[in-house]
Amino acid sequence: MKIIILGLGYVGLVTAVGLANSGHEITGLDVDMNKVKMLQNENMYIYEHGLEELVKENTKNGRLAFDTLENISCIDSEVVFIAVGTPSQSNGSADLSQLKNAIEHVVDKAKSPLTIVVKSTVPPGTGKKIKEMYLEKASFKHSYVSNPEFLREGQALKDWFYPDRIVIGGDDREATAFISDLYKDIKAPIVISDVTTAEMIKYASNAFLATKISFINEIANLSDLTGANIDGVVQGISHDPRISGSFLRAGIGYGGSCFPKDVRALDFISTINGHSFELLKAVINVNNRQRLIPIQILRREMGLLSGKKIAVLGLAFKPNTDDIREAPSIEIINLLIGEGAAIKAYDPIVDGTEKNFYYQEAVFTKNVWETVNDANAIILTTEWDEFVNLDWFEVYKYTQSPHIIIDGRNVLQPRLINEIGFKYFGIGRSCV
Ligand code: UDX
Repeated sequence: MKIIILGLGYVGLVTAVGLANSGHEITGLDVDMNKVKMLQNENMYIYEHGLEELVKENTKNGRLAFDTLENISCIDSEVVFIAVGTPSQSNGSADLSQLKNAIEHVVDKAKSPLTIVVKSTVPPGTGKKIKEMYLEKASFKHSYVSNPEFLREGQALKDWFYPDRIVIGGDDREATAFISDLYKDIKAPIVISDVTTAEMIKYASNAFLATKISFINEIANLSDLTGANIDGVVQGISHDPRISGSFLRAGIGYGGSCFPKDVRALDFISTINGHSFELLKAVINVNNRQRLIPIQILRREMGLLSGKKIAVLGLAFKPNTDDIREAPSIEIINLLIGEGAAIKAYDPIVDGTEKNFYYQEAVFTKNVWETVNDANAIILTTEWDEFVNLDWFEVYKYTQSPHIIIDGRNVLQPRLINEIGFKYFGIGRSCV
């Protein structure tokens, strides 16, 4: 089947490749000519394990092509997936301008009735409004389906081919059955709902996972104060299947392109509906506070930070991605620079100088050794394997007093690190 994917970010590109792999004929469209040109030349602008190979393979076999939205004079497919961004606005609400623009283009260029499938994360009720504002007035009777995406960066393809579930929300049975059929090669439970419920499922999933993280971070903070060990606590509670062990890694908090924005958007949605979602506000506050912990430890241990040499290991918001959106590293580096510290930072994939951060005064190095050379303290902000598996005996020789390590992701072995001579600080591991 001919399918158009509009919006070639993480979600759009993975959807394009995934559906091409199932034998469909995919045209990926984007308004950004540079992105399209890169893809046409089989170059990637995002790092995602395995994606480049699949883009190349499907382009070669003719199942995948890319173009700009402007270049397309009419839509000749039955289905259009929309996967444009819905970024946060300053009041926390989701900016739907890209989605509206995409729908306008689709309606305008349609030559027959379409099934419009929205993968973008949109506030509950958006689909209903889109139908009223654009589809009811259109020349053809288009169907609207909400099909939220749950892929994780770094394992996006695995999540596409082996998802936990597929959610399809539609207000007519024919459309939901039609879209379910597109996923027939994938073995996963399909949850069928109305459009608004599907939209809410996406927010509820992300907000619930963010809540787990902020909850365990608070238990870790309390463990530091009382002398409990967070690793033992998590082990003890996660045997209960009602709790489960996932998303209970304490640390300097969640970041990325989804959790922070979606939790804020759900809080905003609650407010405009006259409801104060207190739990969600706490989740946000705890997360904002969590990333300040390394700085508090450094102040406590070293006093004034002016002139102190700090090595930051990791820029990406999590390992196996080059995404730095809302990464704790950004705020940590900026705050330390604000206090006059000398920062050297390194990430295995992200080249800090290329990204347009505020923190121009930091020095971005090419390897761990340059970064830790002469450092008074090291902050591990992203748990890349390269850092977890470092020869910390060797690292110690490069550093200088007071040889502090702040393990922002609780991935190092505290006893070993202390035995080497470092002063180790984790999150909720102070008793070790
Ligand atoms: C998330 C959702 O998992 C995914 O379903 C949705 O489609 C998009 O948002 P992603 O942003 O790729 O995916 O990252 P994820 O692996 O979920 O991690 C999010 C953040 O939480 C990261 O900053 C990570 O470091 C943090 N995290 C995760 C913790 O701090 N502790 C944990 O136990 C788990």
